[in-house]
Formats: sequence, structure tokens, C-alpha cells
Amino acid sequence: MSSNRYPWLQKEKPQPEQQAPLLLPTKEIPGSYGIPFITPIKDRLDYYYFKGHDKFFQSKIDQYSSTVFRTNMIPGPFMASDPRVIAVLDAKSFPILFDTSKVEKKDVFTGTYMPSTKLTGGHRVCSYLDPSEPSHTKIKQFLFNLLKSRKDYFLPSFRSDYAARIFSSVESQVASNGQANFNDLNNDIAFDFLGKAYFGKSPSDVGASGLQKKVTIWLLLQLAPLASNVLTKLHVPKLVEDFLLHTFALPSFIAKPGYKSMYDYFNTAGSAALDLAEKVGLSRDEACHNLIFATSFNTYGGLRVLFPGLLARLAQSGRELHGRLATEVRQAVASHGENGQVTLGALEQMELAKSVVYEVLRIDPPVEFQYAHAKKDFLLQSHDAQFQVRKGEMLFGYQPFATRDTRVFGANAGEFVPDRFVGPDGAKLLRYVWWSNGPETEEPTVNDKQCAGKNFVVLVARLFVAEFFLSYDSFTAEISGSLVGSQVNITSLTKAKAKAGN
Ligand code: HEM
Repeated sequence: MSSNRYPWLQKEKPQPEQQAPLLLPTKEIPGSYGIPFITPIKDRLDYYYFKGHDKFFQSKIDQYSSTVFRTNMIPGPFMASDPRVIAVLDAKSFPILFDTSKVEKKDVFTGTYMPSTKLTGGHRVCSYLDPSEPSHTKIKQFLFNLLKSRKDYFLPSFRSDYAARIFSSVESQVASNGQANFNDLNNDIAFDFLGKAYFGKSPSDVGASGLQKKVTIWLLLQLAPLASNVLTKLHVPKLVEDFLLHTFALPSFIAKPGYKSMYDYFNTAGSAALDLAEKVGLSRDEACHNLIFATSFNTYGGLRVLFPGLLARLAQSGRELHGRLATEVRQAVASHGENGQVTLGALEQMELAKSVVYEVLRIDPPVEFQYAHAKKDFLLQSHDAQFQVRKGEMLFGYQPFATRDTRVFGANAGEFVPDRFVGPDGAKLLRYVWWSNGPETEEPTVNDKQCAGKNFVVLVARLFVAEFFLSYDSFTAEISGSLVGSQVNITSLTKAKAKAGN
């Protein structure tokens, strides 16, 4: 990836909103790693328990008066052999993480630690491969081919296997219990939907219903080092939780029987997909483990965070936004839909719904961290200074800070603004939306590390908004924090007038 993909990094052509001085002062990267072993643990406790994520980073920005600094990152000892990173927390320095001519992305998907490959059939799956590794090209191409081959199924499957099921469950739970736990329903239904969308067969179609529970255990084993306040909710003391989750990898054998069931399902239901893999020179076995990971970790893991996050922002925005979205969706369906249903053509007319989705992905990126190692020595620029980075050093980006940079998004960068991306001026900001590990204005390729499912994610998020406001005028929900992202309990739904009484 050449640096001219990020014109604001070039001194010759500063963007209007990036009027940085032409000659930035060269500075030492501030911050220190402290005393080995002791300081990384202190940093970990601050990050999880004493300060929390945002305060941990903000206090260091304030302390060093810099958005680029040295720090330890979680989980630290003994899980990670080296916790030392250079944090890049502004919109100018962050895109260095996408520049594969300068950084290497080998084995950094989960950061400073890597889960055992025993959890992925002994394979390093695509997310852990650097684009320079030959199997990266083959696997990513295979995933592109699979998504392309299934593209006509996504919309009808979302409507019948996701939206219809989840909406009717929410309605009946609200009617009987006064509320519905959206996250639990989403966790159950989204995995079946993905089976239908990607392979035409959900786990229950092939006698494997409930597979998502095994997938959840498998996910937890990989993500436990990044989780906190899970056991403390059960009155386990913080330090005990810290020791149990963040010090040693949980044993992979816990997931072994479940993983065997996952493999059997993907190998059977995904048989046509595996035929596609053979065409690009992959073995069926390696492709099957990658299929499991792309579906269960990348997609299902992502949708477990994205859909509740989207609904939480919609709930907090209130009736006025709901009314505008309902009007837009229904007008688009009336003029461009078919038989009163959402089509791709209708979706294209929904500018506000589209902007809402981008704004959620900007302000609450479902994957908050990105990491990379410097491939060579280079100068890294923030808005205010440039810094010497040495080959081998680890770079770390906390995306919610970079995509809430006031120098790009203005004084209201920290607020949820539903219309932010509407119109030509809004469209210009899309290149600063980075949830997919690359600008929203670019497409993933086999040569970069941008999310292979970028377009699928934006499509299903837009479908979510469209299907929701085709069925409902408004809703209310209680929002709290969950393991990752938001916990949403829907407390009331107002059915669309045309549909009321159905
Ligand atoms: C990579 C986010 C859905 C497949 C990534 C990365 C991010 C991301 C941030 C880059 C990680 C890094 O290298 O630092 C998400 C989110 C999703 C989602 C938030 C859903 C809400 C999907 C879907 C697929 C997918 C639907 C389906 C194929 C992949 C793959 C990679 C990747 C294969 C590695 C790309 C490479 O090695 O070049 N995703 N993703 N993801 N994602 Fe997604």
C-alpha cells in the first residue's frame, strides 16, 4: 500500500481539515515502559480496573501532551512475552497501521498475545497472516469468492432468517416479560442466519442446533485476556479475576469437543464453499478451519457487538430520529422496493440510514484495537510532531480515539451525529472511518489487511436499520455495558401504523 492512499500524510498536499505545519518538529517518543514485569502489571490493573480504557489512554495523552507515546499494553505477563508498544491515538498517526509497506501484521490480530493454534486446527488462519505470506492471498481470495458467490442470498436470508425471527421473539418477550434481552436473542439467531447466508444451511438444518453455544466457549477462550468485569459480577475479587483471565492462557482442550462439532458442521454445510477453496489451491482442511474462523470469529464475533451497538445508539437518539428513519425507509421501499419489501435499490435511497450506520462504526468501532510491527525504521507523524520509529517496534492503535479526533470531525467528534455522513461534505469524511482496518472509501484486497467482509458488514447493518423501521415506528431500551460493547434490553416497541394489528 503506498502512502499516496493517505494524502494527508504527504507534506506537499495537506487536506483542508489537516492544516498541520509543513515542517513538524522531530521529537523523542514520550513515555516509558517502566520496571519490567511490575509496570506492565500496574498498567494492566489501571487499564482494566482502576482507570478503565478511555481514562488510561487520556491520562497518558495529558501526561505527555502527545497522542503518540510509549506504553505497555494488556494483557502483559505472563500471557504476552513483550507488552511494549508505541500508541498512535490521533487521526494522522493511526493510518500507519494500514500501510503494509512500512508495517508487518504477522500474528498481531489479537495484539501482544496470540491464542494457541490448537484452537484453529493447528493453522495460523488468515487474520494472523501478513499479506507477504503466500497463503494469505489464497485464503483471502477464497473468502472474497465465497462472499461473491453468495451475494444474492444475503438480503432474503437477512429478512427471513434474522429480522423476522428476532423481531417476533423480541415482541413476544416484551409482551410477556415487559422486556427482551436483545443480546441473548442476537447471539442465538445471528449464527443460524450466517449459516443460511454463507452456505444455505443453518446448524439446525443439519441437526446441529445450539452450535452457537459451543462457538461462544471457543470465542471466550481466545478473548478472555481482553475481557474484564466478568467474574467480578459474580463477586469474585478484581485481583482474582485478573489472575484467572489475564495471566495464563485458558487451556484449549476445553473447546476441543465443541470445535469438533463446529468442524463437522462447516465441513458438511460448507461443502460448496470448500469446492471454491480447492480452485484457488487450498486444501479442504485448511480452508475449513479458515471458514470456521471467518464465520465464527470475524463475522459472528463482530455481529455480536455491532447489532447491539447500533440498537443502543438508536435507542439513545430517541423518537425524533426514529421518525425520520421510518419515513425515509418507507418512502424508499414504496418507490424502489418490491411488494412492500426492502431491495438493494431501495437501500441505496436511504441516505440517513446509511449515515447512521457509518456513524455507529465510526464512534463505536466493534474492534477497538489494531497492532503492527515496524518493518523498517521510519518517521511517524502525528498532527503536531514527527517521531523516529525503529524496525521491530510494535505500534498500537486504539481506534475510538483516532476516529473521534476533533481535528478531523470537529468539536462534536465525541457525539453521535446521525446525519454526519449525509451529502457531499459528509461523504468526504468517509475516508476517516476505519472500523474495517482501512478507510471506508477503499476496498479490501489480497495485498492489504482490510477486513475481507467489509461490504457484507455495511450491508447487513443497513438492512438491520431498514427492516427495523419498516416494522416499527419507535422503541425504547435500557442500555448498559456488556463484556464487549453494549447490553440492550428492549422495553417497548411501537409497531408501524400500517402493520399495527397484524
Ligand atoms: C480483518 C473487523 C466482519 C473477515 C478484520 C480487521 C478488523 C475487522 C478490524 C483487521 C484486524 C487487524 O488485522 O488488525 C470486522 C468487524 C466485523 C467483521 C467489526 C463485523 C462487524 C467480517 C466478515 C468477514 C471478515 C463478515 C467475512 C469474511 C475478515 C478477515 C480478516 C478480517 C478474513 C483478515 C483480513 C486479512 O488478513 O487481510 N476484520 N470484521 N470480517 N476480517 Fe473482518
